[in-house]
Amino acid sequence: MHFLDIAKNRYSTKQYNPNEKLSEDIVQQLTQILRLSPSSINSQPWKFTFISDTKIKSALATVSYHNLEKIEQASHLVVFSVIDNVEKFENENLSQLPETATNFYNQRVKSLGEAGIKNWMQHQVYLSLGFFLAACASMGIDSTPMEGIQPDEYNKILKYDGYTALFAAVIGRRDVADFNQPTFKPKFRRPLEEVVESI
Ligand SMILES: Cc1cc2nc3c(=O)[nH]c(=O)nc-3n(C[C@H](O)[C@H](O)[C@H](O)COP(=O)(O)O)c2cc1C
Repeated sequence: MHFLDIAKNRYSTKQYNPNEKLSEDIVQQLTQILRLSPSSINSQPWKFTFISDTKIKSALATVSYHNLEKIEQASHLVVFSVIDNVEKFENENLSQLPETATNFYNQRVKSLGEAGIKNWMQHQVYLSLGFFLAACASMGIDSTPMEGIQPDEYNKILKYDGYTALFAAVIGRRDVADFNQPTFKPKFRRPLEEVVESI
């Protein structure tokens, strides 16, 4: 299938079939795909946590606002986290990168200060979400990105140290009656000529 058709067909799934679990092979492929996500200067300031354990998934569902039911029903919950300590990033990630990368960081990022550096790191994790959603769609896996979570509660439940949860995604197989499928609810997007220009 052409990627344009994949883009037309993918959607944020609102109702999952709780009886359909993704195979271990599929999940392993997704872990490798996330590891291969691109990032500025190859900084990779992230951690991805795949959760299938029903007890932990349920605990996280209760601190995920309107996403509770999706998390309960879906096969896996994937939590996207970012390094929350600049010193840790510089010691563990930056130190392994080539000089051109450290030069870019020192000249263009470090001057932004702690909040700016953390913001820059978060951008990289968001990019991995786009990569992940596209990969899921190309593999015929249903998914839902979710900012509607309580990061502090996630951090406690997942016992994060040095990372903070940013957002999550659920993956699995849709309930065939899911109202949000493009066949039932056509996608809303702003007109092409408003969002794209050719010069
Ligand atoms: C970063 C991000 C956060 C989102 N958070 C949620 C969420 O918490 N719950 C939800 O049901 N959908 C969430 N969505 C889905 C969007 O509402 C959806 O992508 C948008 O309406 C476009 O619809 P489509 O994905 O079906 O094409 C989120 C999407 C993105 C990219």
